[in-house]
Amino acid sequence: MLIAVPKEILSGENRVALIPSSISALVKAGLEVVVESGAGAGCFYDDKAYEEAGAKIAPTADALYQSADILFKVRPPESGEVEKLRDGTTLICLMDAFFRLDLMEQLAARKISGFGLEFVPRISRAQSMDVLSSMAAIAGYRAVIEAAELLPKYFPMLMTSAGTITPAKVFVIGAGVAGLMAIATAKRLGAVVEAYDTRPAVKEQVESVGAKFIEFDLETEDAEGAGGYAKAQSDDFYKKQQEQMKAKVATVDVVVTTAAIPGKQAPVLITDEMLQAMQPGSVIVDLAAERGGNTEGAVANEIVEKHGVRIVGYTDYPSRSSVHASQLFAKNITTFLLNMVKEGEFSIDLEDEIVKGSLLVHDGQVVHEMIKPLMEQKGE
Ligand code: NAI
Repeated sequence: MLIAVPKEILSGENRVALIPSSISALVKAGLEVVVESGAGAGCFYDDKAYEEAGAKIAPTADALYQSADILFKVRPPESGEVEKLRDGTTLICLMDAFFRLDLMEQLAARKISGFGLEFVPRISRAQSMDVLSSMAAIAGYRAVIEAAELLPKYFPMLMTSAGTITPAKVFVIGAGVAGLMAIATAKRLGAVVEAYDTRPAVKEQVESVGAKFIEFDLETEDAEGAGGYAKAQSDDFYKKQQEQMKAKVATVDVVVTTAAIPGKQAPVLITDEMLQAMQPGSVIVDLAAERGGNTEGAVANEIVEKHGVRIVGYTDYPSRSSVHASQLFAKNITTFLLNMVKEGEFSIDLEDEIVKGSLLVHDGQVVHEMIKPLMEQKGE
């Protein structure tokens, strides 16, 4: 069984799905690994490092795709990549399936078994396979570093001969993986940190990393949906949330927003009116910019200034930390695959909760319970 690892072709993507140190576990399990020449360049691994770790090098993408039994990728395939695969191959990557129904159709037509790593259930047994958590933690860390870079102020409190500098105030909205890492990073830089989340269950976690949990007068009992992820709320809820958060965001220097609802556009939590109430020079890092953003006016992959507030919408923080992002991704995807390998044989066990939860396309059909209805609607 041959695992193939191509070079990511999306412009600016520096990550790679497998790094040399993860190869030995696959070889030990009876699998072979082939890597496209130059695949690790974005995180400073050359072909020699892969060869020394036990992989073969394919000179071109065409040669690699043709030999693959299982293809490991970071990003969903771009146009032209699916065509290069042999029928019946297994593809494991971040699939962005809710927003790539066209790709699901294409994979089904080619009888490719496609796993979406973003669907790995957040259960204890799958923790070491959780790519979303690995990537979100990097995003939370870099969001705060970015904010500290842009803020025209110190982060820590300082006593100087010219007077006392008060610490920066940071407000984190959404205390999932990215939010908790943002809180911990801002604390380490000396800021005073507060956070809010619609899921009351995270209060304890927020406090354990050193922030104050802010409570608003909002009905949040029904905030948690499947797999511990947030549920979408009503327009009325978001309106009330905006009203209550307005005074808070007006008093802080930095806001990091991370509020995400799986499969949906990000809810707008900071309106233009709220931006006007903020202090000029403040910074918002909107980690949800790829899905429209939590801030009115946020633009994916840009920094925009509105009413003197800079809004950062970068969507590629994991790629900017390509070395650690690839290290974590490689560990996650390797563990994910090895869960399906018994005595050197790879098989797809549909009774396994992790397999069932992340298998999107199989035997020429879209099989995932969340994606299947969307395909049916699309076909109507
Ligand atoms: P998560 O699902 O663990 O956390 C999101 C949190 O937001 C949850 O705790 C949820 O309860 C909370 N939330 C939802 N609606 C809310 C609301 N109205 N008010 C307050 N909190 C609310 O997600 P994770 O893994 O931490 O990712 C966070 C975001 O970071 C996602 O949008 C993800 O796409 C993004 N991300 C961005 C990257 C970048 O480079 N910009 C890279 C990786 C992830």
